[in-house]
Amino acid sequence: MMRRVVFNQKGGVGKSSIAVNLAAISASRGLRTLVVDLDPQCNSSHYLLGEDYADYSPDIRGFFEQTLSFQLKPAGPEQFIHPTRFDNLAVMPANTELGDLQSKLETKHKIYKLRDALDQLDAEYDAIYIDTPPAFNFFTLSALVAAKRCLIPFDCDEFARQALYNLLANVHETRADHNAGLEVEGIVVNQYQSRATAPRQIVEDLEADNLPVLKSRISSSVKMKESHNEASPLVHMAPGHKLTQEFMALYDELHEEVALAV
Ligand SMILES: Nc1ncnc2c1ncn2[C@@H]1O[C@H](COP(=O)(O)OP(=O)(O)O)[C@@H](O)[C@H]1O
Ligand SMILES: [Mg+2]
Repeated sequence: MMRRVVFNQKGGVGKSSIAVNLAAISASRGLRTLVVDLDPQCNSSHYLLGEDYADYSPDIRGFFEQTLSFQLKPAGPEQFIHPTRFDNLAVMPANTELGDLQSKLETKHKIYKLRDALDQLDAEYDAIYIDTPPAFNFFTLSALVAAKRCLIPFDCDEFARQALYNLLANVHETRADHNAGLEVEGIVVNQYQSRATAPRQIVEDLEADNLPVLKSRISSSVKMKESHNEASPLVHMAPGHKLTQEFMALYDELHEEVALAV
């Protein structure tokens, strides 16, 4: 089963947009796909479930809460998963109060619980996408421990470029300490403006430093906001749009690499 975390410690770079749209493409191609939302801002949950996302209970908070009170027969992870209105696409929604549990979860060393839960879902899903909060905290660490692949969205900002080195160091440290099988798939350049000089220069700098920049670029388009507002991923809302085509190209690029790696 393919398990991908979308990670960047910076907010607003496109993590949720990329996690949801790649997951929606995966599901539209017939793969049984799950989105796990670990961000208390609940953007992916909102994107997939609409305005009433908070009504879908129990959610990821219930899952982590359960790990804190030992039970001989805990509820299985499927209890915290809800179908969306899109075929083959389910979500384990986030919760705005998720942060309350963080220090307890840390104290009790629960960073392997998400991985163990996703292992139990191996037969149920072909692909799992994990969306993360803009931080390097217990929840992102759990996601990096649970995932097999790591995709890093990047927004062509010079400060974000400098932060990438620290970010990659965190990913490599997590791999060394907890998850030897974790593969950095690459950096996906989002909100790219090919006609502007500054972003082009920044991407060239990354490449010159031998950072793994993916070929596919995602441009900036108002369709993205529209898609969030309508709670409808691009592949459903605007299948023929340029932005959707770019996401499909990114999806194919990532899965070509899977094929090569096997
Ligand atoms: N390619 C894009 N074009 C236009 N707007 C985008 C694009 N990608 C993301 N956005 C917008 O930028 C904001 C942040 O994106 P989001 O996916 O929530 O980032 P993150 O999850 O990293 O915080 C959102 O309002 C989203 O609609
Ligand atoms: Mg987000």
